[in-house]
Amino acid sequence: MKRTTIKKIQKLKKIKKITCLTAYTSSVSKIIDKYADIILIGDSVGPAIYGMKNTQGVTLEMMRNHGRAVYESSKKAFTIIDMPYQSYKNKKEALKNARDLLKFTKCQSVKMETDENNIDIVNYLNKNNINVVSHIGINPQKYKNFTKIRSVGNTNDEKEKICKLALKLEKAGSSLIILECMKESLAKKITEILKIPTIGIGASINCDGQVLVINDILNTDTSFKKPKFVKTYAKINKIIENAVKKYCLEVKMKKFPKKKNTYLI
Ligand code: KIV
Repeated sequence: MKRTTIKKIQKLKKIKKITCLTAYTSSVSKIIDKYADIILIGDSVGPAIYGMKNTQGVTLEMMRNHGRAVYESSKKAFTIIDMPYQSYKNKKEALKNARDLLKFTKCQSVKMETDENNIDIVNYLNKNNINVVSHIGINPQKYKNFTKIRSVGNTNDEKEKICKLALKLEKAGSSLIILECMKESLAKKITEILKIPTIGIGASINCDGQVLVINDILNTDTSFKKPKFVKTYAKINKIIENAVKKYCLEVKMKKFPKKKNTYLI
């Protein structure tokens, strides 16, 4: 099976919605790969897998290891890997770290949380043949406390600024752009004015595609309130809890292991 290219993803704009989910592990990567156009190895690995309160503690080492596992277990989807917090402070560091991440994991693109201050880094990576996905609206790496996050695009001024930023990032060579947590009219406008596809998370149906965190759609963790833009499609927490409860009960009751689970004599 052939790996999806960025050209193929870009051609989907205005033709078919683009599907993207995050993955951090091999088993989940295999499943997502069957259905989604894109797999994102997001730095949401921090909260989702390591129980971190935000993404600021995620390291390049973590991204390398999860990225490799996800890439190796997928065959078809286009793969994007997040540049973690503080790993793209300047052009040189960004290029070194992006090259290392892509070489080690074999992923096809890096994602950076972008604003007016790092457009030149997107441009520099692009000129050095690194495929870059930009991420605007809310930049989660700027938040220690995710409950403080509010949607953007509330005034005409703010809308205009974000549209201009999106255009500059496209000009700097971004291949796709993630729109996070913004008013639907703003997401619609950006999607209309850009030639590259927009992938929304909390940015309405007007985007060219959608992305969500896999743990959120599966409801693996119920200990925190999920943002309004999340839809849970399964209750994995209940399935895991029931299995763990039953296993512990069966061990206590000497019902497990049975003869069929035993190497006899
Ligand atoms: O880290 C992540 O998972 C992300 C997406 C939610 C867009 O950046």
